Amino acid sequence: MNDLSIATAEINAYLKSQEEKDLLRFITCGSVDDGKSTFIGRLLWDSKLLFEDQLATLTAESKRVGTQNGEIDYALLLDGLQAEREQGITIDVAYRYFATDKRKFIVADTPGHEQYTRNMATGASTADLAVILIDARKGVLTQTMRHSYLVSLLGIKKVVLAVNKMDLVDYSEAVFEQIKADYADFARQLEFSEITSIPVSALKGDNMIGASDAMPWYRGPSVIAHLEAVNFRSDVSDKPFRLPVQWVNRPNLDFRGFSGTIASGSIRVGDDIVEPASGQTSKVARIVTFDGDLDEAVAGQAVTLTLEDEIDISRGDILCETKGRPATADQFEAKVVWMNSEPLLPGRNYLVKLGTSLTAGKISDLKYKVNVNTLEHVATKTLGLNEIGICNLALDRAVSFDPYSENRQTGSFILIDRFSNATVAAGTIDFALRRADNIHWQSVDIHKEARAAQKGQKASVLWFTGLSGSGKSTIANLVEKKLHTMNKHTYLLDGDNVRHGLNKDLGFTDADRVENIRRVGETAKLMVDAGLITLVSFISPFRSERQMARGLLEDGEFLEVFVDTPLEICEARDIKGLYKKARAGEIKNFTGISSDYERPENAEIVIDGARQTPEESADAIIETLLNRGVI
Ligand code: ADX
Repeated sequence: MNDLSIATAEINAYLKSQEEKDLLRFITCGSVDDGKSTFIGRLLWDSKLLFEDQLATLTAESKRVGTQNGEIDYALLLDGLQAEREQGITIDVAYRYFATDKRKFIVADTPGHEQYTRNMATGASTADLAVILIDARKGVLTQTMRHSYLVSLLGIKKVVLAVNKMDLVDYSEAVFEQIKADYADFARQLEFSEITSIPVSALKGDNMIGASDAMPWYRGPSVIAHLEAVNFRSDVSDKPFRLPVQWVNRPNLDFRGFSGTIASGSIRVGDDIVEPASGQTSKVARIVTFDGDLDEAVAGQAVTLTLEDEIDISRGDILCETKGRPATADQFEAKVVWMNSEPLLPGRNYLVKLGTSLTAGKISDLKYKVNVNTLEHVATKTLGLNEIGICNLALDRAVSFDPYSENRQTGSFILIDRFSNATVAAGTIDFALRRADNIHWQSVDIHKEARAAQKGQKASVLWFTGLSGSGKSTIANLVEKKLHTMNKHTYLLDGDNVRHGLNKDLGFTDADRVENIRRVGETAKLMVDAGLITLVSFISPFRSERQMARGLLEDGEFLEVFVDTPLEICEARDIKGLYKKARAGEIKNFTGISSDYERPENAEIVIDGARQTPEESADAIIETLLNRGVI
């Protein structure tokens, strides 16, 4: 995850620069109104880790603009650090470091606003504990539930419920107890192992560092005392050993090492090791680092392992201990947080980055999304920005992984858009789907080449794309006629026709068009396997799906024919009268009018629909087929 890996790198760099003092990472959840900035400011202030100049500025600023009658306004401290005062809201994850005698802390400060789910997901994915802030005057709110759900989704088991602004409710024990009970009631649905409720006033300092005189009825720890003492060893170094291989280091013939950062567990020279996807095993010969060889290495360290045997391992594989092996599968149930303004399209091919492996894959089935305010399951066909869905994920090849609940490092992934390279989602793996386990490829004796050779041709696909009315079907029809006269074996798949049968259930939303092209792509592949020259005439407006269809075939088998006719001409022709209806608003999502057409960038054949006649176009295509040895 882009944000995440940068953040993780930062934290790792920080870690390395420090001696091995206990480090607790936590996230604070709450909104500006809950007093979150004041809360964090207070922790930083009281742990005296502020820089002198920041302190000077803060004191001055508090006097000038402070809302606290000349007292120090801790909220200004954070706002000042982030220059977000004008915005009034926190807009990204900020990591802050502070320390006490007993422990070091990294606090991920994330915004509480609904639209910033993705930032919260980023902050929470590396945290061991969450502080959930509540305004004592307001109690458990919808946003409290949303924050708690996300925290639980990201695998955080320990929660501190900081009931803040106790000074504004007269330090009332009854108010605190009621909120504590309400929260416990709600949190039963979530998978927390420990909820510690603390009544505080971040502003006045009550129960932040020491015990509060104002709340003698409270006998529990202060926030800092709890953070210093809490047992959080869900530690990655206690988990089974995993080394996602970043690169194979082979400077010369005598040295072959596998480099990466240990995701979890520890390893010693002489330990047995396995690459689980292939089952190859060996023993660790050396643990090489920049600072020389080690006998042992643990999670978080960047190492190069050399093995006793020559085994075939490449980037993206994962080296594991032999006793606790991860599962290997190509289909999973997963949760995804959608992070892009373009909605998720089930069936679309994305790149899936899991550890160091990068695989093409898609959401094959979106089961439901979760209303993060009520935790209700809602039926859906897509996910929008910041929505969370439960889905099946299908990869092009098997990868090794652990369920997220067992290992956050090897159980999480991101989805990347193939064209924009943007991270569009972050996900966590629940479990592998076993349904593909018992289905194997059946080998057959007659192959595509044999079938095509018998027909005196090379099996291939001519994929016509262009606007409605661009002339695709007319030209495709002419090309097929010409091929037929030449005694070639063909089949024409036309959008309008296929939509009467196989794709009868699909409409024209983006999601349906993705599925439309997926099915016709798979059909074209079968026809190529049958040895046919297959003509596909579909608008196929999206680059991603045309690329997907191309990817189903072998190199050279797929020829994209872009029938490039300007919209004005298609609209003027309006053979089916559809443009008129679309302009009148009677047809929704009409390509070119109210739905996008993404022009091909590297089509093998481009037809100038404004200048070339259908006859000329068909001849040009036949010539290309001859030149390429298809016929
Ligand atoms: S595609 O976009 O999913 O590839 P396809 O080629 O199957 O489209 O179907 C396009 C045909 O459906 C058009 O030629 C037109 O006759 C008809 N059609 C009906 N509604 C629409 C629409 N909203 N957008 C585009 N074409 C439509």
